Amino acid sequence: MKKILDLISEETERAFAAAGYDAELGKVTLSNRPDLCEYQCNGAMAGAKRYHKAPLAIAQDVAARLEGSAVFAEVSAVAPGFLNMKVRESFAGSYLRQMRTSDRFGLEAPERVKKIIVDYGGANVAKPLHVGHLRPAIIGESIKRICRYAGHDVIGDIHMGDWGLQMGLVITELRKRQPELVYFDAAYTGEYPAEAPFTIAELEEIYPTASAKSKEDADYKAEAMEATHRLQSGERGYRALWQHIMRVSVEDLRKNYDSLDVAFDLWKGESDVQDLIPGMVDKMKKDGYAYESDGALVVDVKEETDTKEVPPCMILKSDGASLYNTTDLATIMDRMEKYRPDKMIYVTDKRQDLYFEQIFRCARKTKLVNEETELVHIGNGTMNGKDGRPFKTREGGVMRLEHLMREIDEEMLRKIRENAGTKGYEIDEAEAEKTAKVVGLAAVKYGDLSNQASKDYIFDIDRFTSFEGDTGPYILYTIVRIKSILHKYAEQGGNLTDAVIQDALSDSEKSLMLELAKFNATIETAYEEAAPHRICAYIYDIANAFNHFYHETKILTETDEEKRAGWIALLKLTGDVLEVCIDLLGFSAPDRM
Ligand code: ARG
Repeated sequence: MKKILDLISEETERAFAAAGYDAELGKVTLSNRPDLCEYQCNGAMAGAKRYHKAPLAIAQDVAARLEGSAVFAEVSAVAPGFLNMKVRESFAGSYLRQMRTSDRFGLEAPERVKKIIVDYGGANVAKPLHVGHLRPAIIGESIKRICRYAGHDVIGDIHMGDWGLQMGLVITELRKRQPELVYFDAAYTGEYPAEAPFTIAELEEIYPTASAKSKEDADYKAEAMEATHRLQSGERGYRALWQHIMRVSVEDLRKNYDSLDVAFDLWKGESDVQDLIPGMVDKMKKDGYAYESDGALVVDVKEETDTKEVPPCMILKSDGASLYNTTDLATIMDRMEKYRPDKMIYVTDKRQDLYFEQIFRCARKTKLVNEETELVHIGNGTMNGKDGRPFKTREGGVMRLEHLMREIDEEMLRKIRENAGTKGYEIDEAEAEKTAKVVGLAAVKYGDLSNQASKDYIFDIDRFTSFEGDTGPYILYTIVRIKSILHKYAEQGGNLTDAVIQDALSDSEKSLMLELAKFNATIETAYEEAAPHRICAYIYDIANAFNHFYHETKILTETDEEKRAGWIALLKLTGDVLEVCIDLLGFSAPDRM
């Protein structure tokens, strides 16, 4: 289905052409004076020079051609040469009727389905998830869903950090505590136990302890590095321990991501591509891209047009060890071989901007990817506390994700109880707790996604959980309100499927229609820019337009059945659009709240 702005532009372009001007001047945009009109065209201003004519005269010519148009109810030429336009109720109505019956509300399928890998989450095995992992998880999940909804073939990969020093630290600490474990017996050749020698609770304590010790004690750190090295060179007992750490930790990570409604198709990690590194490095050397510099192996990635310094991409350290870079490059190579992606999108903290610039350039230069392969980094800003500094616990430590989520759920529950109290209805405790989780997740995700990803934002629990304003709970509240009206309509014997959207009868109804009509354009932009905040802005406008319309219109008590059914159909479409959109953002609505 064509975008509504395109239809409106086409009509105006025809009028420009009919009046003897270049059709291209007829491009229409949303009005930046919504108090005066819905749409505007500034083409007459651009045409003035070319046609040596006053812009107002051109605008008047065009306006005259648009009299009686099936699209416009009103077109006025105003000084110095703008065209202010309002569309007909019948035009908006028919667009919405078509939208309601079209697949995906009129979003067209892509010309070519792309294979897209979204690399997000980035959790580190053996370390607990903390707030720093929240944004990449929330943003990445939404981008993945948007790409998929846009019609592409999408794979989400967590790309775990599962091969680094944290593994050596855990092994070292275990060795200190339980030196008798069979994993440390070099002479042992039998099978290793199936059961891990620690629980998740123990693991969660072991890592921070080991990490703290290594910062104070150089010998301890050296031991941990040695253990990491032995693991990476394949020592049997260490490998077996590593597998235990993986299993216990990944199970816990899954639980955490599940509760955030974040789901990965692939649970791959840095360890999966270690075997590919020697071959990749050899090839980079042989092809003449990688060379030795101060003992390390590097690939130059600076370009003539650079305005900032882009240092060489390091492939191997001077001791021959591979690093974060090496693994990411090998992962790109692996993905190209296994999945042939057209595009890879990475979502991480924006402090990795330069890093990904180096990686992408290196991958392109060394031909790990094809010329057409798109490599995109979405760098997210920091989630700050009210003091404007990175979010911390009250004690000033790193906040664990679980704890943060628990705080939100509690606050949400308090608000739900309070809301029920002021409205004077009973709530079922168990249901309220469930609802608090659903709404709490919406509060966090919307609070995050409504900001442009690259911007920092302040995590304000009070504002995020509010039922009013640009918040997740406000959007959910609107959906719940719509559901409740539809429910009552059905109870009164109304039939939802037969109800047909009518041409708008009021300005508020028309405004709602024109907001809804932006669906296909919004999703397309959100996909192209990998920008969930576009969807947030869209649904916030819809929620406002809907609530305005709702307060002005007596829907269920309307006696003209056609009108009543028309409004119900419009409500149904509004509710459906909102629910699809929140699903793209990664949350859902309760039935009641
Ligand atoms: N594990 C990393 C971290 O915690 C994030 C990984 C991001 N993805 C990637 N392909 N490098 O910072």
